Amino acid sequence: MRPKKIALMASGKGSNAINILNYAQERPDLFEVVALICDQPQALVLDRALDFDCPFYLIPLPQAKNKKVAKEQHEQAFLQVLQKHQAEWVALAGFMRILSAQFIAHFYDEKLKLHRLLNIHPSMLPAFKGKDAYGQAYKAQVQSSGVTLHFVDSGVDTGPIFLQQSFNRDESDSLEDFIKKGQEIEYRLYRQGLEKVALDEINLDFSIQEHKNHLQKSEALL
Ligand code: GRF
Repeated sequence: MRPKKIALMASGKGSNAINILNYAQERPDLFEVVALICDQPQALVLDRALDFDCPFYLIPLPQAKNKKVAKEQHEQAFLQVLQKHQAEWVALAGFMRILSAQFIAHFYDEKLKLHRLLNIHPSMLPAFKGKDAYGQAYKAQVQSSGVTLHFVDSGVDTGPIFLQQSFNRDESDSLEDFIKKGQEIEYRLYRQGLEKVALDEINLDFSIQEHKNHLQKSEALL
């Protein structure tokens, strides 16, 4: 089996992107990171990517009076890079923009009935969609939260769940402790998910079981 060509899209500090770049170096038999796209000029991920032999692109939102036109041009620029590098899969790694249905349609896989786009979300979806999911869950004083790796669809954090893992919140956990627990899981889940993608082992049943376990655990803690 030849290594899959994966592109990364990131907007922030890039710890997930760096985790994936490291994993690609460790497992060149599984996949190759063909490009990293960042939309934020100040993002730390741009500096961190310098340590890797991977082409990276800073593509900020174009200046246009009409927001819709700007978004279309922006996504067109992403597509040009992704097509140039023949990216088969896209891994969103802290990418803070909502991609349009037209954009994601380019990655629809008829056989899988899924888009070849992954996103990591810091909650046990469908709980706590949207921004600052760790903060939302922490404020809600949940006893157990989690991390979700999911396929992207045209909604916000609504796509089919690939892998999920929960973690417990201890009474003494500060928000920082809570986030740290979650982020360790993020890195592990992305590695597991990409390995499954590379080996053509995409099976959505695993997440259903983990979700049931989480619900049972949450109910037991109430
Ligand atoms: C992560 O917590 C991820 O789950 C969320 O955004 C954050 C990005 O962190 N989607 P980083 O830029 O990968 O360090």
